[in-house]
Amino acid sequence: MKITVIGCGYVGLTSGACFSEMGNQVTCIDLDSTKIKNLNKGIIPIFEPGLTNLIIKNSNKTLFFHDNLSYSLLNSEIVFIAVGTPMKENGDVELKYFLEATKQIGKIIKNDIIIVNKSTVPVGTADKVKKIIKEELDKRSENLSFSVVSNPEFLKEGTAITDFMKPDRIVIGAESEETFNKMEQLYSPFFRTHDRFIRMDIRSSEMTKYAANAMLATKISFINEIAVICEKVGADVNKVRIGIGSDSRIGYNFIYPGAGYGGSCFPKDVKALHKIAKNFGYETKLISSVEKVNDAQKLIIANKVIDKFGEDLSSKNFAIWGLSFKPGTDDVREAPSIYVIKELLEKGASVKVYDPKAIDKAKELYLSELNNIEYFDSKYQVLDNADALILMTEWKEFRSPDFEEIKLKLKSPIIFDGRNQYNFFNLKEKGFEYYQIGKI
Ligand code: UDX
Repeated sequence: MKITVIGCGYVGLTSGACFSEMGNQVTCIDLDSTKIKNLNKGIIPIFEPGLTNLIIKNSNKTLFFHDNLSYSLLNSEIVFIAVGTPMKENGDVELKYFLEATKQIGKIIKNDIIIVNKSTVPVGTADKVKKIIKEELDKRSENLSFSVVSNPEFLKEGTAITDFMKPDRIVIGAESEETFNKMEQLYSPFFRTHDRFIRMDIRSSEMTKYAANAMLATKISFINEIAVICEKVGADVNKVRIGIGSDSRIGYNFIYPGAGYGGSCFPKDVKALHKIAKNFGYETKLISSVEKVNDAQKLIIANKVIDKFGEDLSSKNFAIWGLSFKPGTDDVREAPSIYVIKELLEKGASVKVYDPKAIDKAKELYLSELNNIEYFDSKYQVLDNADALILMTEWKEFRSPDFEEIKLKLKSPIIFDGRNQYNFFNLKEKGFEYYQIGKI
């Protein structure tokens, strides 16, 4: 099929690369011409395992990059809108890039086409898309048939390619059998062994994305709140996690306690769902609590440091392992590490940081204006003479470090672990003062 994808971010690039891998003719469009120039040279703007290879392999064969929408849209049967839908200050979803892309589609198309909403957008957005396209066609007295589809994306950063290539499900919200069939034809190479194609009405599909992310965020905030209670009552959340996960109705996934969830999706989508409900006259109770629990959780490690060293940290220096919101990505958006660093600096401390991938993005987005931060490119060097090690992201290289080396380098052997990576008793035996989440 001939496809245009608008937006060369995580979702756009992954979708474009994977569709092209299946033999479709794909053009990815972005307004940022520098990004397009770089993509044409094989320079990919994000770190995502497997993505660069896939793009280079298919470039100029089945995958093309361009900064002009007219270039490919006139030949396309399907256009995906995968532009950013960030959060506004008031919690509403910023739809201006999305609606502008829609308008451009309406101005250009000359043939029947399927317009697919891939960006995460509030319930009811497909109706707005229909209205805008219709208005633009009327202005040109064009009378062609188009359909609007909601197709939320569930890929995870760090495993985006595998998630896209082997999806748990493809959710499609559409209005005609013909459109469902065309979308199923496009996706069927990705689920050859099982039918994973779920058809529904457009609003339910739009809602599915928010409900999925809110459910996952709820699981995390739930276990994090249980962890807080565990510390109070003298229980061990690591054991409780296994104890409850063994119930197949609960399951082991997504109940790992930690320093809070971050990233470009959960924080934004949980807030947005609350705001969407409010705009429709309902005040959420559970969903707003999920966010409150997470806000507190993001500071839990900083609070443990303060409990240990006191409110005035002016003579203290801490080594941070990990900046990205999770391993396998250089994405630092809403990462708990940033909240912890800011809080420690606020209390007068200085920090030294190491992350295998995310230092540049962290500087660019959050840290460049702050003082008292030093950056290192080795996980051991960063420890030199620090008052404690704080682990914020569970990168594989942090999972089994040389504890003797850590002990030698730190001023005193103290570890604050925001991801419960190490065996509590082993570390105590090795002579560490070791702080976890949900166990004291
Ligand atoms: C998420 C959804 O998983 C994905 O389906 C959706 O399309 C986009 O949002 P992503 O943001 O890439 O994907 O990250 P994910 O792997 O889901 O992790 C989100 C956050 O939750 C991370 O900060 C992670 O550390 C945290 N987390 C996850 C926990 O604290 N505990 C867990 O048990 C699982």
